[in-house]
Amino acid sequence: MQQVKVERLLVNYKTLEKFKRFKEYGNQELSMLEDLESNIIENDSESPFFGIYYGNALVARMSLYRVDAKYDQYFTPPQDYLELWKLEVLPDYQGRGYGSRLVEFAKEYNLPIKTNPRINSHGFWEKMGFKKAKYNMERDLGENPLIWTPEGVAEQSVS
Ligand code: COA
Repeated sequence: MQQVKVERLLVNYKTLEKFKRFKEYGNQELSMLEDLESNIIENDSESPFFGIYYGNALVARMSLYRVDAKYDQYFTPPQDYLELWKLEVLPDYQGRGYGSRLVEFAKEYNLPIKTNPRINSHGFWEKMGFKKAKYNMERDLGENPLIWTPEGVAEQSVS
């Protein structure tokens, strides 16, 4: 089977309109729209979103952000890592490998990954090789982060 293409999404009115079909449409998208309207960002500038198209329809997306090593509280040795959020596949397109394709794409950077899963998606993340980070109240507060590490990287021990 041909590998499904993952594209970096550009900020423009067309993409923001497509985002409205996703459940997790929220402040991040609204702020991108405001920035576009007030010319704070240029049309077609890079967004943190990556997506998969089926024809002209955007059917799956995720956000990825590279966090600088100096803020790393999860991995050892401390290093740049990826924060992954807003992974979502539209209902009609779930179960066709698009979610896992996006996660595989993120893993290809060969950096550790951290995400905060939605309730009910734990089975998926387990299949993707993610595990619960040891809970650290000061760091995690109300979050239950999951992490994935490439070879040679370990989790920081919680003091
Ligand atoms: N729980 C357990 N396993 C799951 C799962 C879930 N919620 N979603 C998918 N999987 C499994 C699949 O069965 C598949 O396993 P296989 O490789 O053995 O066949 C594997 O994970 C990869 O599935 P894939 O087709 O890539 O998943 P997807 O494209 O549907 O993406 C989500 C997964 C969770 C990102 C996507 O379904 C989604 O956005 N859901 C939105 C709502 C949500 O979180 N639902 C959770 C269930 S209520």
